Amino acid sequence: MNTTDQDGEKVKSVVISGASGMVGSALAARLSEHGFSVRRLVREKAENDPDVIFWDPATGEIEAKKLDGIGAAIHLAGENVAAGRWTAARKERILESRTQGTTLLTQTLAKLKNPPAVLVSASGINYYGDRGDAVISEDDPVGKGFLADVCRQWEAATQPAEEAGIRVVRLRIGPVLSPEGGMLKKILPPFLAGAGGRIGNGRQFISWIALPDLLAVLEYALGNSSIQGAYNVVAPNPVTNAEFTRTLAKVLSRPAFLPVPTFGLRLAFGEMADEMLLSSTRALPQRLEAAGFQFQYPELEKALRKVLDKD
Ligand SMILES: NC(=O)c1ccc[n+]([C@@H]2O[C@H](COP(=O)([O-])OP(=O)(O)OC[C@H]3O[C@@H](n4cnc5c(N)ncnc54)[C@H](OP(=O)(O)O)[C@@H]3O)[C@@H](O)[C@H]2O)c1
Repeated sequence: MNTTDQDGEKVKSVVISGASGMVGSALAARLSEHGFSVRRLVREKAENDPDVIFWDPATGEIEAKKLDGIGAAIHLAGENVAAGRWTAARKERILESRTQGTTLLTQTLAKLKNPPAVLVSASGINYYGDRGDAVISEDDPVGKGFLADVCRQWEAATQPAEEAGIRVVRLRIGPVLSPEGGMLKKILPPFLAGAGGRIGNGRQFISWIALPDLLAVLEYALGNSSIQGAYNVVAPNPVTNAEFTRTLAKVLSRPAFLPVPTFGLRLAFGEMADEMLLSSTRALPQRLEAAGFQFQYPELEKALRKVLDKD
């Protein structure tokens, strides 16, 4: 894999925020295996561990000196959006952990004597909002709703890094397929119990991505200086919720005939049901494909078989 930055130098060291999370922990392991020196930007102090850098987006503290000279930064941190019902306090944490965290990180990187060559910063495919059957590329405008607004502000907060001449890559990530977290972890128990089923009318599109492909995109973005700006990180074959349901049931060899009614979802999850479960985004990875990125898991069934170990 090509891991050179725009100065032609090898990016050997990387700092990851959110490294304890589902994506971050898998990424840290992969990059270490691939010879990177990996440091973690975390909210818990670990003074005796040189690979741990402390920060706290809520208070604005950050061990800036330890970031000087690092080749690349990957920013994944943010309050989990699906951890519970969206109370006003939770919505504030979802937004502020991203705006304050990204601003703190990018302003700090911008002021370093030796800033990183590249910042790869997460965002979500929710950027586009609920768009029905429309096929969405990176040229589409920001959508409506709470999560679209979070993504817009989250991406805008990367600006200080861009202004400092750091190559900034903004990844609009779709629901990540992994049994360790995200959507799949939540729906697996009912499916395994034979009580799975489509959500609402099942016509809403899911622009999913298999975890191994997301990790490959993150590494690809580090090493390719032509990668810059916003990218949809979704497989090239988004599916409707009904198709997702049928495919997951097939992979698990379980029935899935129990549709989850819309009113029940709204009762149980409130606003989160509309934005995360009933919302439809049919996004394509147009810029990644144009850049020549090869997906290892472009089809849902193969992706599910891989991540669920049902090969
Ligand atoms: N998983 C998906 O399907 C998906 C889809 C689209 C976008 N994304 C985005 O990709 C990123 C990584 O996803 P993930 O699934 O790995 O997330 P995750 O498992 O929820 O981990 C996120 C990490 O962010 C840090 N964090 C949590 N609350 C925080 C807060 N209030 N302030 C600052 N940091 C906080 C934590 O790290 P520390 O405790 O070490 O600080 C946590 O491990 C997230 O920003 C997520 O929104 C994920």
